[in-house]
Amino acid sequence: MNRNNRLVRFTHRPEGRPSPEIFALAMQPLPALKAGEFLGRNCYLSMDPALVGRMRGESNYAETVEPGETMHAYGLTQVIESRHPAVKVGTVLLGRCDMQEYLIASDASAFTRINLGLAEPTAYLSAVGITGATAYFGLFDLGRPKAGETLLISAGASSVGSIAAQLGKSFGLRTVAIVSSEDKAEQAKQEWGYAAAVSYRGKSIEQLSADIARACPNGVDIYFDNTSGDISEAVLDHFNDFARHIVIGRLGISHLSDTRQDVGRRDNNAILAKRIRKQGMVLLDHKPRMMSAIVQLAKRVRHGEIQLKDDVLEGIENVPKAFFRMLNGESQGKQLVRLAEIDLSADSTPRWPGRLITARWFPTAALARLLAR
Ligand SMILES: NC(=O)c1ccc[n+]([C@@H]2O[C@H](COP(=O)([O-])OP(=O)(O)OC[C@H]3O[C@@H](n4cnc5c(N)ncnc54)[C@H](OP(=O)(O)O)[C@@H]3O)[C@@H](O)[C@H]2O)c1
Repeated sequence: MNRNNRLVRFTHRPEGRPSPEIFALAMQPLPALKAGEFLGRNCYLSMDPALVGRMRGESNYAETVEPGETMHAYGLTQVIESRHPAVKVGTVLLGRCDMQEYLIASDASAFTRINLGLAEPTAYLSAVGITGATAYFGLFDLGRPKAGETLLISAGASSVGSIAAQLGKSFGLRTVAIVSSEDKAEQAKQEWGYAAAVSYRGKSIEQLSADIARACPNGVDIYFDNTSGDISEAVLDHFNDFARHIVIGRLGISHLSDTRQDVGRRDNNAILAKRIRKQGMVLLDHKPRMMSAIVQLAKRVRHGEIQLKDDVLEGIENVPKAFFRMLNGESQGKQLVRLAEIDLSADSTPRWPGRLITARWFPTAALARLLAR
């Protein structure tokens, strides 16, 4: 069947903060499948801040998108035609779908088959996917929390930040958020259970620092840093001895054409005097244990310990709008775009292992190991 693929093209590298001209909608006919290929209908795309890093020419931990290419994005695709021996029609796959309605691929190993018994499909783009796993490994592996400690989270209402907050709170930490506005601070306390929340917009580093001191009377033991930049500089004087500063992202310096140009206070004095451990976290390093994180997160979602919130726009033409809603902090939850509905009846992947794993009474560790094979 002849099909057209509507897509969002990346036109040029942004100077400074990305603006809408970096994207152009386009359409191209889909070629016929060759032997070994499969065709996926992209159902959901995830709008992630890390996509900005892919637009920059500077060295990064993720691939770079070249001008003229379809803009990268992670998402869920459902296989609708296959000439690949191991990929069945109907299967739902998680991976790099890019900002387009269809994808043609041959490397099945670049995608993960999702178990729909473990979690709802879209949860794999938030709490039970990259977002949740970033929070999980960042907090537990790098943050090494002890009950009663104070966990401070910048971009505290972001998808990653809000999951880290819920995981931290249920572990017994006192959680504090840094967010853009007072309204968002109130919302963060109500929705994500933060004990306190401060706003940064329109404040000097000194003003924000004073607010952090009030919100964290016992100091900061773990700083889950989604922003870097001035916000993180304001945290410097509030670390306790042996604090952990986990660098997760650079939202606060993403307006710089080259984030290596970031300047600020040198932090060695605080690091030395307080014996702070500052460490970058890249999820790719945790790939071998990804399945066990997914199982842990799916269980917590199923048992209501982690709440999810999605903000879904419809259609390929709304992908640029969704991207800028995410970038401007306007999204009410994980920003997704629905391109097509998933046909759940067409996916023949058995769901029972997922259902068993999330059942309260089941020895989940053994099953998690089985699934991870
Ligand atoms: N290291 C890894 O492997 C890894 C993997 C996934 C994600 N991440 C990182 O995790 C962080 C959160 O990602 P996400 O997907 O959860 O984001 P998200 O849900 O899309 O939320 C983004 C939030 O960033 C805040 N923000 C936007 N511009 C900002 C600015 N200039 N300064 C400060 N805050 C700003 C906004 O909140 P406010 O309105 O409160 O400012 C917005 O709500 C990002 O830094 C991302 O790169 C890292």
